[in-house]
Amino acid sequence: MTVLIRGVRRYGAGDVVDVYVADGQIAEIGPDLSARADDAHTEVLDAPGQVLLPGLVDLHTHLREPGREYAEDIETGSAAAALGGYTAVFAMANTTPVADSPVVTDHVWARGQQVGLVDVHPVGAVTVGLGGTELTEMGMMAAGAAGVRMFSDDGLCVADPLVMRRALEYASGLGVLIAQHAEEPRLTVGAVAHEGPRAARLGLTGWPRAAEEAIVARDALLARDAGARVHICHASTAGTVEIVKWAKAQGIAITAEVTPHHLLLDDSRLTGYDGRNRVNPPLRESSDTAALRQALADGVIDCVATDHAPHADHEKCCEFAAARPGMLGLQTALSVVAETMVVPGLLDWRGVAAVMSENPARIARLPDQGRPLEVGEPANLTIVDPEAHWTVTGAQLASRSANTPYEQLRLPATVTATLLRGTITARNGKSPV
Ligand code: DOR
Ligand code: ZN
Repeated sequence: MTVLIRGVRRYGAGDVVDVYVADGQIAEIGPDLSARADDAHTEVLDAPGQVLLPGLVDLHTHLREPGREYAEDIETGSAAAALGGYTAVFAMANTTPVADSPVVTDHVWARGQQVGLVDVHPVGAVTVGLGGTELTEMGMMAAGAAGVRMFSDDGLCVADPLVMRRALEYASGLGVLIAQHAEEPRLTVGAVAHEGPRAARLGLTGWPRAAEEAIVARDALLARDAGARVHICHASTAGTVEIVKWAKAQGIAITAEVTPHHLLLDDSRLTGYDGRNRVNPPLRESSDTAALRQALADGVIDCVATDHAPHADHEKCCEFAAARPGMLGLQTALSVVAETMVVPGLLDWRGVAAVMSENPARIARLPDQGRPLEVGEPANLTIVDPEAHWTVTGAQLASRSANTPYEQLRLPATVTATLLRGTITARNGKSPV
């Protein structure tokens, strides 16, 4: 397939150009490539004044396959990803069975390739069965067909400091990344909401900021001593920002992500017991969201990752303490980033390309993603209409699960097309699946 993209601005700035895509690559860029449209085999994407970005990369998704396909599977999750502008996602290991061996990680990779809408990179578990005690054979998963490059027990913390130390040592020898869900479990027993007056008023057990920050600080020090890289999942507090900033200033190889929901939402939403507001780590306070936004703008936090965590209605729309933690994220991430970062002037579209594509691709060491928008580069591309608005309706999202905290929220910016290696995987809100 060849594709002619007409009238875009690269990173939303500079001259309006046409971009011609052939053989999976950007083949030509020029002020007017209309002649290319004469070929009957060329798909034309008219995108006047729209923003061309490198395809988005998500370091943190839960696609639920294998094991909980009633909530999401690789096909529905891939469609949500493509519609959200993503060309690569990392699927967390907390599936059933756990992705702690090449049997599972190679299946996830192969199924993603078969669906063909987005590269689904499996994340391998750090410990067998997410049990927290015995390290997995990371080397075998890294050497398998999936070429696993990131490991995490996400959903759970690698809480034992000696296990985490050994994991960092093992990973650094392999050149792979450990991503930590930072939660000291002794401080979060029964916790379901941010520790503060709002949780107290509702009689919900609180989750203190220190549960996250203590692990972030500990792991920064362990990474320092191991000479290893460590990545912090879903940073949620102003204190985490301060610790990451300090660690980077020491030269520690630490990176961090923030979710769209921790940028936009805070615990003022807890006016009742709506399970859609339950997520781990919990929604914090407005002072935390402000610090997270500023840290993303300043580069202290490296990237946005969705933590797309689908759950069926019977698992979410129930008593707050019984509701499973997690929110849909893939199809709304770009718009939430536009709302929280672009509209207030904290990031321009060049900056969005950095935090949603280039930086995550660099952190995961993906060679073919987050590339410059130049001739000869792989055509992993996202086209965004920055002027459009839309209203989120959970039932219309591609995910198998439909509950979303953004229900009926009007958000700026729409993804008008996504291309994976030159093939259109989403167009005007529709994906081929
Ligand atoms: O809210 C969350 N949901 N946080 C996690 O760490 C795990 C995730 C899930 O798997 O549902
Ligand atoms: Zn997590």
